[in-house]
Order: sequence, then structure tokens, then C-alpha cells
Amino acid sequence: MTECDIKNIKLAPEGKKRIEWADAHMPVVAKIRERFGREKPLKGYNLAACLHVTTETANLMRTLKAGGANIALCASNPLSTQDDVAASLVKDFGISVFAINGENNKTYYKHIHQVLDIGPHLTMDDGADLVSTLHSNRRELLDNVIAGTEETTTGVIRLRAMAKDGALACPVIAVNDSKTKHFFDNRYGTGQSTIDGIVRATNFLIAGSTVVVAGYGWCGRGLAVRAAGMGAHVIVTEVDHVKALEAAMDGFRVMPMNKAVSEGDVFVTLTGDINVIRPEHFIKMKDGAIICNSGHFDVELDLKGLKEITRSIRTVRPYVEEYRLMNGRKIHILAEGRLVNLAAAEGHPAVVMDMSFANQALAAEYLVKLKKPLDNKVHVIPEKIDNRIAKMKLDLMGIKIDRLTAEQKEYLSSWEMGT
Ligand SMILES: NC(=O)c1ccc[n+]([C@@H]2O[C@H](COP(=O)([O-])OP(=O)(O)OC[C@H]3O[C@@H](n4cnc5c(N)ncnc54)[C@H](O)[C@@H]3O)[C@@H](O)[C@H]2O)c1
Repeated sequence: MTECDIKNIKLAPEGKKRIEWADAHMPVVAKIRERFGREKPLKGYNLAACLHVTTETANLMRTLKAGGANIALCASNPLSTQDDVAASLVKDFGISVFAINGENNKTYYKHIHQVLDIGPHLTMDDGADLVSTLHSNRRELLDNVIAGTEETTTGVIRLRAMAKDGALACPVIAVNDSKTKHFFDNRYGTGQSTIDGIVRATNFLIAGSTVVVAGYGWCGRGLAVRAAGMGAHVIVTEVDHVKALEAAMDGFRVMPMNKAVSEGDVFVTLTGDINVIRPEHFIKMKDGAIICNSGHFDVELDLKGLKEITRSIRTVRPYVEEYRLMNGRKIHILAEGRLVNLAAAEGHPAVVMDMSFANQALAAEYLVKLKKPLDNKVHVIPEKIDNRIAKMKLDLMGIKIDRLTAEQKEYLSSWEMGT
């Protein structure tokens, strides 16, 4: 039976058109869906999913359902739900959805519990809120759980911490760690969609501005390169010497946040870390500075500390709050410090989510087909599956590559041949 707690079922027609639009850019997922429809590898399995409720996620849900899974979906962030997509998933695709854009923390967790009520054999998470709720408040369900998958860097870090403490009671596949995920989704997806979120919220001109990128990981480097490509002067802040060195050799200025604050027009955090921009930084920023976060949780900007040095706050545009500081300057916080690309824009383009969600679908199939259960640890997808996704994507893009000759294979696997 399809159950739901969504904003408005009447939004379904709009959502359906957008889901179909995304589907046209997700050929790998579509191909997997076709096969799943024939083979039904997930038949009889209950799957609890906690993902951003976007058009791309909708196409993943359709695929898992085609594979026979019984699914319940909730949001992995209170601000990222696309209400029309939620409506269409329920009405047109018969999938249970519990997600409303702008839901408060209490409703957010109520929805996670409603999804867990399905009694999952598999969990599919983005940020590990579902798995941590399962382990803290719904332990009675754990016996039934075969395994889970995790979409993002921050979730993988949380799960590895649980495994290290011996607290993880089921195996989890770190989908984020597949090459066909983080090389593309984190870099090109976050890179482009973060700019999209900033521009939609502010109509700001990137060219000629100074953009400060905090964190030069997969997401940060994607953003830095794209902002530079649009004519920004990019400054990178880091805490890791190797990443900082890479940023410097990629041609960016690297300095501590404390120094960058007086130069930046736009600040973006993509670190997965806490309180990266703090009151001591906000206070030194230029009048009119724009600050946002594209890391998973809304902890990267110290907004509590900011409020303590603020005289007044007003919303000046959707997703833009103007903080008038006690020093007389005003600065702008986008999307309440939540993922700007998902809150103020639509998240990653479907083309890139095609590979991330191919990983999710094939990970689910891999997990239910395993002969021997995995240890209660964080695992990666077998390289064979990762490579298969890359090959499918290339094929569907019409790109061919060379093959190793027999002689090359021998050369590359031998240690005897030298000059
Ligand atoms: N917005 C999105 O749609 C989206 C997509 C994918 C990942 N994410 C999230 O973005 C965050 C980053 O992901 P990633 O894959 O780039 O991770 P990553 O581990 O590759 O990179 C994070 C970088 O931040 C640096 N860092 C940590 N603390 C810092 C600090 N105080 N100041 C400056 N740099 C600091 C680290 O040294 C590292 O280089 C995670 O929270 C991840 O879950 C968001």
C-alpha cells in the first residue's frame, strides 16, 4: 500500500514532467531499470531510503521498484525536497514518500521513523541519519537488515567512526567511494550546482569577483575550477598540506580563512567539518559579502556565533538572509547555511547523478546476491561494478576507447621486461 506524508498530491503532474526530463539524461539508470524489470533481483526486499527527494532520486526509486523492491523514501535534508517530485512518486509511481520541503527537525525525524516502519532489509542513506536512527532508536529492526548503502562523504565518515567503535551492526557499502561516484558527482556535480544555487539565490556576477573556497577535496576543487572558469579570482583555504599544495599548483591562491575574509566577495564551505567560518571571520568580512555552505550538514558556518554579533536579520530574497552586524556591516547567508545547491537550486544535474545512482542500484543488487554476508564494516563497491558503470556511461555517450593488445597486457603484467 502506498503511504505518504507530502505537501500536496496535486503537484504530481509538474513533478512527473520533471522526473521524465531527468530520466532522459540518465541512460545508465534507465538501462539498469530495463534489466531490473526483467530479472527482479530485489523482489521481496524492503528498502528504506533517506535521500534528497529530487527528480534524479525519483528515477532511482523507479529503478529499484522495477527490480521488485518495496520502497519507502524520506528526505536526507529538510530543505532539499522537491514537493512536486514527492507527489508524483506517490501518485504516478506508487512509491511511499514521507518528505515535505521546509519540514522542521521533529517532522524530519518522524519521517525517518515512518520509513523505518517498512522493516528494511536494505537501507539507502545520504548522510547516515537513517542508519544512526536505526542504531539508536530502532534497534529492534536491525536483525532484519542485510546491509545498507551510503551516498556521501560525510555519511561515510560517520559510518567509519561507528565501525571503529564497534557500533555498526550491519555492513554498509560506501557508494561515495566508487570512482564513478566521487570523481564526477562530487567534483562536476557539486562544482556546477553550487554556482547554480548561488546565482539563482542572488543573481550575482561571478566574473571579476573573489570567491573563497573552503576545502579543496573533491567538491571544493570542482567548485574552484568552475568559478575560475567563469572569471572569478579564487582563494582556497585548507587544513591538509597535500590538498593545499595541489590547490597552489592548480594556480589558486591559498591562505588561512583569517586572511581570506577581508578579500572575499563570496565564501563557500565544502569541508564536511564544523564551524569553518566563525564570528572572528564574519566580523572582518566586506560589507555585502555572500556566505554559503555546500557541505552535507549545516554545521560549517557558525550561525549561532554569528547571531551573537548581529544587530538584526531580515530576509531580502528567497534563500538570502541579511545579517546586519554590530559593526554596521551587512553580510548575506544563503539557504540558512544548508547545502546551497540543493536548497536554492535543484542539486546536481541528472547526467552526473546517472552514475551515482547506477552505483546505488547495482550496490543493492550486489548486496542481496551475496553468498556470504559481509562483515559489519564499511565496504566499497567491487571494482568490477565501478568499471562496468564507467563503460556503460561511455557506451551510452557514444565514446569508444582503445583495448590493450595481447603484447601490451603481457608487458604491463611482467616485471622482467625493462629497456
Ligand atoms: N552539495 C552536495 O550536493 C554534495 C555532494 C557531495 C558531497 N557533499 C558533501 O561535501 C562535503 C565535502 O565532500 P568531499 O567529497 O569534497 O570531501 P573531501 O574529504 O574530498 O574534502 C574535504 C576537504 O575539506 C578539508 N577541510 C576539512 N576541514 C577544513 C577546514 N576547517 N578548513 C578548510 N578545509 C578543511 C579537508 O582537508 C579536505 O581536503 C562533505 O560534507 C560531503 O558529504 C555535498
